[in-house]
Amino acid sequence: MVSKPYQWTDGATLEEHSKRKHKILREYFRQYILVRCQMPKQTKFRLAIVDGFAGAGRYNCGSPGSPIIFIEVLAATLNEINLRKASEGLPTVEIECFLQLNDFEPQVVELLKENIAPIIAGSKETCQKLSLIVEYSSGKFEDLYPKFASRIHDGRFRNIIYNLDQCGHTHVERTTLDKIMKSENSVEIFYTYAIQALITYLDKSDPQAVQRKYQHLHIDPDQFNFLDEKLGNQEWMGAAEKLVFDHFQECAPFVSPFSINNPDGWRYWFLHFARSHRARQVYNVILHENSSQQAHFGRSGLRMLAYNPEHESGSLYLFDQTARDSAKEQLMDDIPKLISENGDNITAEDFYLSIYNETPAHKDDIHQAIMDNPDLEVMTSNGGERRKAHTIKSEDTIHLKRQRSFTWK
Ligand SMILES: C[S@@+](CC[C@H](N)C(=O)[O-])C[C@H]1O[C@@H](n2cnc3c(N)ncnc32)[C@H](O)[C@@H]1O
Repeated sequence: MVSKPYQWTDGATLEEHSKRKHKILREYFRQYILVRCQMPKQTKFRLAIVDGFAGAGRYNCGSPGSPIIFIEVLAATLNEINLRKASEGLPTVEIECFLQLNDFEPQVVELLKENIAPIIAGSKETCQKLSLIVEYSSGKFEDLYPKFASRIHDGRFRNIIYNLDQCGHTHVERTTLDKIMKSENSVEIFYTYAIQALITYLDKSDPQAVQRKYQHLHIDPDQFNFLDEKLGNQEWMGAAEKLVFDHFQECAPFVSPFSINNPDGWRYWFLHFARSHRARQVYNVILHENSSQQAHFGRSGLRMLAYNPEHESGSLYLFDQTARDSAKEQLMDDIPKLISENGDNITAEDFYLSIYNETPAHKDDIHQAIMDNPDLEVMTSNGGERRKAHTIKSEDTIHLKRQRSFTWK
């Protein structure tokens, strides 16, 4: 099934799977604002958002699209933060947000301007601490990306979010993702990628045709050796999908390839690229709170993407209680193994840095698996021992005890 172009001018239908994607975007963005404005003495936060495939902002059911979601969340979260700060006698915080809204279709952008005008006006009334600079453009995201990047650069914005909600899988170049992720330290991308549209018609007996289908990703030809024709169909498809996973993983230190099932259409990924493990930690929590809505292919535990489809059968991590229980078991083995590979201790910060590109696990499960493990102890920076999972901090050190049970070896 090939995705239909959006018919905004006749009223676009918001499908169930897009609702789920919006829910994740909304919840993650709220957490993002809360985290970025959490310093007690902070009075200002500056942010640039590029919604490169913005759409018209409203669906025929009345639900908002991504441009409106960004503004609604900004205003509501900022009010929530300032109410709390005022009650604690702390200075309030102001957000300056540059919002670049782009869609290929000029008439869609015109409709977006109409739909968003009351939201911008409303946010000015209800949230005086929010200062929005909204600019509109119409064209192919790829053609306009250099302009967006220099606008952000000239505006000296250091915190940047790109929402690249394409239909399909070919409208954003891998090189552009690389450039975005290298542009600033605090940059994140949400990227929709129709993985099934890519892999469904691959003919495993025709390696050259397979490589042509992957052309837009600019993958090194040697990496296709992994796609061995002798693999069974299921394993071969798993390997074809993993090739794309691995490839995107090179774009950023933290990439989460989460699948959203579209029951009436094709499965796609809602990828999140980040440079900070904290961003990924927050994203994993949001995905657990939306457990029925997406899956992550691979094994559970820390190195979920390290599975080899030739030797292990991958399974779906469904973010539900059963998946969490089996992840906890796996974590009991994986964590001491990882620490022993490092020597006999590791700071919690370095531990997070090394795991968060590969694990969908909830931070509470990771912390509990550390506390429950008889071979591990966590020391605070003052040399005291931590006893409660939820109090573990980045500055702590995780130690392997001298006397070990070795059940995980
Ligand atoms: C999935 S919809 C966007 C939905 C929107 N983000 C939301 O949350 O409501 C994809 C949009 O991308 C636009 N589009 C298609 N190709 C494009 C391109 N190369 N560059 C920019 N926009 C494009 C389409 O007109 C369509 O409105």
